[in-house]
Amino acid sequence: MRRRIDSLIGQVVAANAVLVVLTLLSATLVAGLRLEGRQLAVLMMAVALTLVVNVWMLQRRFAPLDRLIREVEQVDPARPAEARLARPDERIAEIDRLARAFERLLESIERERRRSGQLVLRAQEEERKRLARDLHDETNQALTGILLRLEALAHDLPAQLRPRVVELKQLVSGAMDELVTLARQLRPAALDDHGLVAALEAQLARLRSRSGVAAELLVSGEPERLSPDQQSALYRIAQEALTNAQRHARATRIEVELACSGDCARLTVTDDGVGFDPTSDADGGLGLRGMAERARLAGGELDLRSAPGSGTAVSATIPLLVTHDGNGQLTAAALTGDTER
Ligand SMILES: Nc1ncnc2c1ncn2[C@@H]1O[C@H](COP(=O)(O)OP(=O)(O)O)[C@@H](O)[C@H]1O
Ligand SMILES: [Mg+2]
Repeated sequence: MRRRIDSLIGQVVAANAVLVVLTLLSATLVAGLRLEGRQLAVLMMAVALTLVVNVWMLQRRFAPLDRLIREVEQVDPARPAEARLARPDERIAEIDRLARAFERLLESIERERRRSGQLVLRAQEEERKRLARDLHDETNQALTGILLRLEALAHDLPAQLRPRVVELKQLVSGAMDELVTLARQLRPAALDDHGLVAALEAQLARLRSRSGVAAELLVSGEPERLSPDQQSALYRIAQEALTNAQRHARATRIEVELACSGDCARLTVTDDGVGFDPTSDADGGLGLRGMAERARLAGGELDLRSAPGSGTAVSATIPLLVTHDGNGQLTAAALTGDTER
């Protein structure tokens, strides 16, 4: 009840009802009429009819506004980019403006979300780079120093104590190996020094030697057109997809394909493992969500295809920036992806 009275239509009809009754009353008074019986009933019916027509017309005029409100209420604030407001056949200037203003608002929210997400990811990669460098340069150097001193010590010690030093040396070597693995996981130097293709190649070589899985990389197009941020994003997506293929799929073959041509780059990781039903948990785990979020922040999307018994294919597609100079040549900005920043 309260809702009806609060609604815009309710208020306009109430105001109209007051106006009609007041007008009729004053007209009757001015004309000196004394309404009785049937005349009064006819007048009341005319007033009621006027109000019914009024309500009907107002409802028709306000229907697009009602629809717009319902659509706006259904927008998921976490996914503003997916919101599409339907354009009614019967367009009303004010409502159209409202819808366009709302769409612009959603677009700017999405832009801001993407920009701040990219800043967070960039800061995260920088921090990982710093940590990996510190681990590699400082901690590893210190361990190398310990190893060298242990070797010198082994020469000076009596023969029966040497096995203990050898044991210590093995422990230190093990710690150094773990440190290098950790530093590489944090941020592979190959990614910064030689780019995405080299980093993926190195990752697959390690996977082959560690697990014996047949893993290969296929590259086509011009991967050098990917910006450093895009390379980081695709590398992290590949890293997670490869971890999943090893951890969950029991795959014997893994194929990574990187295709960069036209206006998009696509990275696909395919395994021949046990597969799973991606719809069983609509939002996926943290890993799957993280991959989708990275692809989205890079302006693209993630496609996941899998079914129990028929392997899994994870594919991230992101846009490549193509800008041309007057001669139709790709500019340096497009080649380095600097225009993205
Ligand atoms: N390549 C794959 N093969 C089989 N199952 C997979 C694969 N990738 C993901 N899954 C399934 O999807 C689930 C969610 O994956 P993910 O989000 O990466 O989380 P996590 O790896 O931490 O379990 C996994 O637990 C697994 O059941
Ligand atoms: Mg995972």
